Amino acid sequence: MRARLNQFPRISYGPLPTPLEPLSRLTRQLAGPQVWVKRDDGIGPGMGGNKGRKLGFLLAEVLAQGKRKVATFGGLQSNHARMTAAACAGLGLEAHLFLFEKRPSSLQGNLLLDQLFGAKLHFIPFGGGGDASMTLEQTNRLVKLVARAVAGRSLYFMPVGGHTVTGCLGYVDAALELQEQVAALGLEKVALVTAVGTGGTLAGLMAGFHLLQSPIRLLGIDIGKLWKAFPASIARLASELCAALGEPHTFAPADVPMIEGTYAGPGYSVFTEDTAVAIRTLARTEGIILDPVYTGKAFAGLLDLIRQGAFAPDETVIFLHTGGLPGLWAYEQELSG
Ligand SMILES: Cc1ncc(COP(=O)(O)O)c(C=O)c1O
Repeated sequence: MRARLNQFPRISYGPLPTPLEPLSRLTRQLAGPQVWVKRDDGIGPGMGGNKGRKLGFLLAEVLAQGKRKVATFGGLQSNHARMTAAACAGLGLEAHLFLFEKRPSSLQGNLLLDQLFGAKLHFIPFGGGGDASMTLEQTNRLVKLVARAVAGRSLYFMPVGGHTVTGCLGYVDAALELQEQVAALGLEKVALVTAVGTGGTLAGLMAGFHLLQSPIRLLGIDIGKLWKAFPASIARLASELCAALGEPHTFAPADVPMIEGTYAGPGYSVFTEDTAVAIRTLARTEGIILDPVYTGKAFAGLLDLIRQGAFAPDETVIFLHTGGLPGLWAYEQELSG
């Protein structure tokens, strides 16, 4: 599979492989399965996160197509937008970020970084989604039209979260990396848990584990209730990834291993008390920080599942830390105390 992945151009953002570490103090406290963490929060550019794996393939495609401008979109605290802005700055490209909310009075967290990276910020205070009235694909088509109209020619449009075959090759690659680490450590009965926002990380891992015939059990935790017919979108992308890598396989929506809605709280980016508890728990047992929008919510879900006995005591549960830390500084009030 490595040879097949290497056929696609890529810029190397790293450092890779990311560490896979046991969380011994947390495991003792929970008295359930062994809990480990995979540190994708350390992948660059621009202060890290899962989007680095996707952007490596996406930005290589931008350069191969000779485009000078990149447009993408997301919520105000989009980590994907922030890392796209950083990657573009490093390559001398113009980044256009479409943020479907009113411009806040001060730019905090990811927004502050977007500005530091020199991205052009387009605040559009309507149609921000979050009500799951459109599919992810419909939303992308609509924003692409807006981006073309605003940013003009020579534009590479990147769907929300880098949700494309090219981008999500990054998480097929991650599946291979993790499989090798798990084998080298001799870990058995392994489950991997990840936050799901646009679903590309989950789709890449689904395709990767399928192609590797990996025994690793995969579980995604939806953090936003963002999209209509979301499992169908993830299944389609995972199927397209298998085809792109030369081994067609069709995933059905029911094959998508995702808990949808249960742990999303009132909605995307709406802070919950469970998230605060999860962030404090990991911070105080292991000195590792989670973010308030994605990893904190997903980790709260994981803690609940462990409490409910969803994992056997002899299982090893790996939490994929997908980053997002700059978002902390947009939630100072909620987290202090
Ligand atoms: C920090 C963080 N974790 C997880 C995710 C979810 O990844 P995906 O969009 O591939 O589902 C995102 C982005 O959406 C993110 O920024």
